[in-house]
Amino acid sequence: MKHVISPLDLTVQELEDILTLAEDMIAAPDKYKEICHGKKLATLFYEPSTRTRLSFEAAMMNLGGNVLGFSSADSSSASKGESVADTIRVISGYADICAMRHPKEGAPLVAAQYSSIPVINAGDGGHNHPTQTLTDLLTIKKLKGRLDNLTIGVCGDLKFGRTVHSLIRAMIRYENIRFIMISPEELRIPDYLKKEVLDAQNIPYNEVSVLEPVMPELDLLYMTRVQRERFFNEEDYIRLKDSFILDSKKMKLAREDMLVLHPLPRVNEISTEVDEDPRAVYFEQAKYGVYVRMALIMTLLGLEV
Ligand code: NCD
Repeated sequence: MKHVISPLDLTVQELEDILTLAEDMIAAPDKYKEICHGKKLATLFYEPSTRTRLSFEAAMMNLGGNVLGFSSADSSSASKGESVADTIRVISGYADICAMRHPKEGAPLVAAQYSSIPVINAGDGGHNHPTQTLTDLLTIKKLKGRLDNLTIGVCGDLKFGRTVHSLIRAMIRYENIRFIMISPEELRIPDYLKKEVLDAQNIPYNEVSVLEPVMPELDLLYMTRVQRERFFNEEDYIRLKDSFILDSKKMKLAREDMLVLHPLPRVNEISTEVDEDPRAVYFEQAKYGVYVRMALIMTLLGLEV
């Protein structure tokens, strides 16, 4: 039995197989519509979500399976003080696979240790978000045509943004990847990622605090929201929240084939006028999230067509 807690729980080959399966699901969805008949997915969400939870549920429904779960800690027994370890031992008897989102880093890993069904991390605090990364990789592969030889700008809250942390871990496994990290000083990527991941593997990156001058260099621009819920005080959030706003004027500085990705939800960091730009692919990206989750569920359940 396999759990997916970090993006590195999947080898490059396993990841490639999931992306290929997802592409086949896009091309021929009917082939897969009964494959999870009689199976149940539990969505255990202790933190707000729109895309991740609903795309997991849509994915299981597209495969002919059923879903059960809760969408906030308040509506679960966590509010009575139940531990994640106890909850997962019980859910293991109700479902065949589960997706868990939790505000505490490491909670899905603890769950995996007590679980007898596959656990998928659907976001743990400021740590990892492997299924968003699968979504991002499918988007890049489909729309850019490659996962190597890319200069990737990551912009916004690089300190608390788990999507960026997982994306970096996954992308450095491909050839010739370079990062330009664009953030205010206070929201730079954590030291452990720099030391243990980027420096340890000699990955080229630079850190800047202005977006405009680097725009012409980018193949991809991955925008992120400032993660209000992870700030210790509201003043800091208010001071930093509008540090970067991507607008049409800044898009003029970018290459014709640069793509703008965003895991969503967007707050102010991308002006809505950018939505009309063909290089803005974040809504398409959200759609791909359903297919990679279908492919992941099928793979973890060991099902084949
Ligand atoms: C992200 C998350 O939850 O980390 N959302 C998502 O899953 N698409 C990004 C965010 O909340 O900013």
